[in-house]
Amino acid sequence: MKIEIYSEKTESTFGIIPFYKGSPENAGEPIHKLDAGEWMTHNGDTFFCMSPDWNQNEMAHYFRLLAMKTKKFWGKAPCVDTNLKGNALRAALRGIFISSFNPNPQHQKTAEKVILYLKSIPEIDFILHQAQAEAETQMWAMKMVDLPPSKKTPEDLGDFARQSAKKYGYDCEVWNEDHIVKAKLHALHAVGKGSQHPPVFIISKYFGRPDSKNIDLAFVGKGITFDTGGISIKGSANMHYMKSDMAGAAAMLGAIELAARLKLQLNIATVVPSAENAVDAKSVLPGDVIESYSGKTIEIIDTDAEGRLVLADGLAWTVKNLKPAVIIDMATLTGSSVRTLGTEAAALYSDNEKLVAALYDSGLSSGEKVWRLPLWSDYDSYLHSDVADVSNLSLKPVAGSITAAKFLQVFTGKHTAWAHIDMPGMSFKDSPFYKTKSATGYGVHLLNDFMHKLAENNDLTKD
Ligand code: BES
Ligand code: ZN
Ligand code: ZN
Repeated sequence: MKIEIYSEKTESTFGIIPFYKGSPENAGEPIHKLDAGEWMTHNGDTFFCMSPDWNQNEMAHYFRLLAMKTKKFWGKAPCVDTNLKGNALRAALRGIFISSFNPNPQHQKTAEKVILYLKSIPEIDFILHQAQAEAETQMWAMKMVDLPPSKKTPEDLGDFARQSAKKYGYDCEVWNEDHIVKAKLHALHAVGKGSQHPPVFIISKYFGRPDSKNIDLAFVGKGITFDTGGISIKGSANMHYMKSDMAGAAAMLGAIELAARLKLQLNIATVVPSAENAVDAKSVLPGDVIESYSGKTIEIIDTDAEGRLVLADGLAWTVKNLKPAVIIDMATLTGSSVRTLGTEAAALYSDNEKLVAALYDSGLSSGEKVWRLPLWSDYDSYLHSDVADVSNLSLKPVAGSITAAKFLQVFTGKHTAWAHIDMPGMSFKDSPFYKTKSATGYGVHLLNDFMHKLAENNDLTKD
């Protein structure tokens, strides 16, 4: 989609006039009866009622809905008559861009044009550029998560990452199965070896401070392109949703793409251990004890707890080789996190108070919320194994998201600025735009907000 901005309203335009609920200049008009998110046509213009309490995702959501529902009346020259500014304007424009998104590639429209009338503000070109980059990257993440599993094998995911790196001028390497074995990424290999689509290990790097080689921020994303559960096979009801098990990877690839597009002055890496968790004669078995990159052995009790295995290697490899100042992983790790927080927030784990505060704050302003759960040592005993250093399944059928986080912590080399985000409920869910669950692109804007803060203040996470 292309948005053109004009500072003069022309005759043949369809005017959308957004206003904040309760704003005094509208008192007395019939439009004052509107609730936030509602619109009506009055004297030839469409009045759209906003709430001053909306976060950026809510702003984008309602503008997406408005644009989708009213576009057919926009004719040749639709326009939004607005005096929105700053973050609110950026989010509204993002919503208008995303209104062209359709998870069915056959129905995707690209050549749409929208003309906006905006009260002239000096930073409009910059805001429009940001909104377009944020919208396109979010749509890229959504598209990847919505793709069927046979169209996004681990190798495909590697290609997507490489294409983005080439297009926006950053580095990307994709290691194949042989390289994974040679590099001793044993846990990733154990998960991927049962699939006809071999695992890959993706390493993207963006140097926004090219005078330094140090990595300020590393992202590690769970890239399971389909999760059958493996030999501990899942029930078939809703198993098709497990195509979304690479949503953590999609968010992390989106975050680095956006950093490159917006030229943030940070050195960032995104690492994606990617595999398909398949059922096969070669699949890892329950009861097996596997090696891992860290040197620690892992007892596999349940092959469906595969995300933590690939992340164990992703985290250990990243900490050792990239030595990032801050490391954040994102994963569709547990159903337990959804039972705890529903589809309104992701579970956040970190012992770094400043990192927790910054991510919590970014969650509120972006609308991609996180809520902290504990990493206390009280839970250590849950992951005891008699035959290995650690078990991949808790001995108790409770606190599933917490024990998964505790498992990951074992592989972080006691990094002092590590955060883990368990987010299946947020990344793939019901919405008014579709009839079934679909991708949200969760994480892209949370991390975008966080990266902007980190670029401004490098002490943000120093305890
Ligand atoms: N990919 C799933 C987690 C998941 C659940 C994602 C629901 C999306 C929606 C993960 O690999 C998994 O299977 N987790 C198990 C863990 C259990 C075996 C310890 C779970 O949550 O049931
Ligand atoms: Zn699983
Ligand atoms: Zn999984």
